[in-house]
Amino acid sequence: MPPITTHCPQANGYVLFHEDCLQTTRRLSEPSVDLIYVDPPFFSGRSYGTGAHGFDDKWSGLGEYLSWMTPRLIEFRRILKPKGSVYIHCDLHASHYLKVLADSVFGIANFLNQIEWKRQSSHNDVRQGSRHFGRIHDSILLYAASSDYEWNQQYVEYDEEYVRRTYRYVEPETGRRYALGDLTAPGGAAKNNARYEFLGFDRYWRYSRRRMSELLSAGKISHRNARVPRLRRYLDEMHGKPLQDIWSDIKPLSRHELRYPTQKPEELLSRIITTSSNRNQLVYDPFVGSGTSAAVCFKLSRRWIGSEISRHACRITMNRLAALGCKAVLHSDQKPSRLLDDLVCNSSTPEGTSCS
Ligand SMILES: C[S@@+](CC[C@H](N)C(=O)[O-])C[C@H]1O[C@@H](n2cnc3c(N)ncnc32)[C@H](O)[C@@H]1O
Repeated sequence: MPPITTHCPQANGYVLFHEDCLQTTRRLSEPSVDLIYVDPPFFSGRSYGTGAHGFDDKWSGLGEYLSWMTPRLIEFRRILKPKGSVYIHCDLHASHYLKVLADSVFGIANFLNQIEWKRQSSHNDVRQGSRHFGRIHDSILLYAASSDYEWNQQYVEYDEEYVRRTYRYVEPETGRRYALGDLTAPGGAAKNNARYEFLGFDRYWRYSRRRMSELLSAGKISHRNARVPRLRRYLDEMHGKPLQDIWSDIKPLSRHELRYPTQKPEELLSRIITTSSNRNQLVYDPFVGSGTSAAVCFKLSRRWIGSEISRHACRITMNRLAALGCKAVLHSDQKPSRLLDDLVCNSSTPEGTSCS
């Protein structure tokens, strides 16, 4: 393959390959990707959209589907950097088989979560006469490449009931809500805690005398009515609740927002990309569709490569990126190896410079 001379896509960092993802991964000679979001056909037995404006998810059987998926997952594993992660989006049609397959490819010890994304409200699925429970969630399997993976903890707001129960007190002067926490040290001397007198109470304390004085001067200690001093934890200083593995706060797209069948909400991709990558790192989307991951990567300053076999979907993605002011490169020929090398190797090239 002759190298092509062009401006380094790092100038914008976005390359879409109009081809089978298996072909794209084979262009990469080594682990070079920080995050892979896999949103493949789900083995649903359906056709989405019409003709060239959609795609087929029809197979002769589960065996054919899994045999198609296997070499792709193996390639995703191969191109993933040691600190990388992969998210595999699926649903009840094949999620259990994909879990077993992915365990064998990524290693069961590297399995982190099965995220359940509530993608529909309950009345959408169970129609009159249905004889099953409503099927309203997708599953997203999360694997890391190793135990030392990138992780940016996400938080969500506490629910009202929790706030009312836990942050029970309100500071009259400021209106700030706070909770009171124990400052004495469980385990006492056995755990090497310091014992001293503080505000008239002789106890084993959680913190050193110096730290206690700092907390007191910062107004973080309540010691009214001759009660044992307690720590004030202000609600507005808390991150919120660490995100759990059931995601019901991200709404699916409404019919008029959809550019492409099976398009995912940007909020969903934003959560995944923020959690498992950092600015300027490289995200790969092997099943691009309408380019949701690309749009989110652009907004979050990540670099991106994608693969998509549908010309129609490629056009939607390129237009979507152009509308954001992102100058992506579309490759539909056999020659982009140089481009890809530049993109992969050059993560620190400043924006706007040329690699050629
Ligand atoms: C579920 S959709 C992806 C939707 C996308 N996440 C979005 O938000 O728009 C799956 C896409 O994979 C594409 N596709 C199917 N087989 C592929 C393959 N072997 N390589 C690349 N793309 C493929 C289909 O054309 C379809 O657009």
